[in-house]
Amino acid sequence: MHKRGLFITLEGGEGAGKTTQINLIEKYLMSKGISCVFTREPGGINISEQIREVILNRKNISMDGRTEALLYAASRRQHLVEKVIPALKEGKAVICDRFIDASLVYQGYARGIGIEKVMEINEFAIEGYMPNLTIYLDIDPKIGLERISASKNREVNRLDLENMKFHNKVREGYLTLLKREPMRIKMINANQSIDNVFNEIKILLDKLFEID
Ligand SMILES: Nc1ncnc2c1ncn2[C@@H]1O[C@H](COP(=O)(O)OP(=O)(O)O)[C@@H](O)[C@H]1O
Ligand SMILES: [Mg+2]
Repeated sequence: MHKRGLFITLEGGEGAGKTTQINLIEKYLMSKGISCVFTREPGGINISEQIREVILNRKNISMDGRTEALLYAASRRQHLVEKVIPALKEGKAVICDRFIDASLVYQGYARGIGIEKVMEINEFAIEGYMPNLTIYLDIDPKIGLERISASKNREVNRLDLENMKFHNKVREGYLTLLKREPMRIKMINANQSIDNVFNEIKILLDKLFEID
């Protein structure tokens, strides 16, 4: 019997391959008979969707960094309460495309509010529901952004339009978090074939779920 009620998050810059790998993780865990929920913030949660619209609206270029951080935390809380916690309580595994670390990195580190400050409001929002495992897909932002522009059917949002310097800071931020929490956050080189990246993820999953 595998372990139940585990919370896993995927992190990384734009085009690192999070969505691609989550689809493979879904197939793999289902094939092992593990019941799981795959989600991403705002995750179809009405209130979270509405908050997210305000954050990503291109008209809101004057948005203050702390306002943005608070809105992300608010959206996160509602998604957590309505979707993630109920699933974990049913013993399901929850796999989430980005979570708290994205805020720590984008708002805290890259926008310069400070990781600790953003951590404070997120602690209030998540009440201790930290991931059991966070898979960080590491890639040179230049390669990640090239992947995105090469793929046609992806909407470009406000964050995609930020300059390269910002994306490099994002990567630096993730590497900073990795150093702080090496037990929870595991880094994988995302500049490999899709299959090779997934093989590395599979090793982490097998260990966490105790799959033989
Ligand atoms: N390992 C990889 N090598 C080459 N292309 C990839 C790889 N992983 C994903 N891609 C492609 O890059 C684009 C962005 O991938 P995606 O999974 O959407 O990234 P993210 O969700 O991290 O932004 C997609 O077109 C995807 O097919
Ligand atoms: Mg994605």
